[in-house]
Amino acid sequence: MNLDVSADSQEVAQKVATWLLAEALATDQVFTICLSGGSTPQKLYRTLTQSPYREHFPWARVHWFWGDERFVPSTDESSNYRMVDTAICSEGLIPTANIHPILTDTNTPELAALAYEQELQAFHGDKTTPLFDITLLGIGSDGHTASLFPGAAALQETSRWVRVVPQPGLKPFVPRITLTFVALNNSRHIAFLVTGSEKQAVLQDLLSGKSKVPASRIKPVGALYWFVDCAAYP
Ligand code: 6PG
Repeated sequence: MNLDVSADSQEVAQKVATWLLAEALATDQVFTICLSGGSTPQKLYRTLTQSPYREHFPWARVHWFWGDERFVPSTDESSNYRMVDTAICSEGLIPTANIHPILTDTNTPELAALAYEQELQAFHGDKTTPLFDITLLGIGSDGHTASLFPGAAALQETSRWVRVVPQPGLKPFVPRITLTFVALNNSRHIAFLVTGSEKQAVLQDLLSGKSKVPASRIKPVGALYWFVDCAAYP
């Protein structure tokens, strides 16, 4: 099991940034990253814009996608796009064409999900390699990941890549657009970033190998990594 325990959330951010840089530099091809929302990965996103990652990250050939989005305007403070835009995109390091947000400003939730699925499929084309090189995910204390909340119909999806979750299990109580397990698991590697004492119980459950929560169904093509801090894994 690829479990890495850090002293605190900032060390988690630095370890994940170092890992991402090494993975991105291990190829000279287009490199795709699917981003997590929420608060945990914000330190990671800011860390990527700082030295030495700023200078060495292959920004020109890395494409950025989102694992889920809240159906709010892109300027809303709860928007996952806005969170990433503030942390990374606003630094001007990433070519605009490499940023692939879930569009929520002009669509209904259903149209936003369809449009994103079409964008993902067009980008992937007929490649036989995984859709994403790396997918970053967080976990809620209820065991959700992305917006795949316990009891959501999207958990049962076996063909669609993107679905609407009309009533998520926590704030903001707005419809969510989420990648399904079909799309998320189509990743070469997936890393869970888990920090804070409130995640202890769900992390212990998941690491037991007997968990039934939605996050237990995350199974990448390649390897699954756990980057956690000692507050979540004492
Ligand atoms: C979101 C995320 C969600 C998040 C978990 C953990 O849109 O909020 O996709 O799955 O990763 O809820 O959130 P925290 O990192 O804020 O604890």
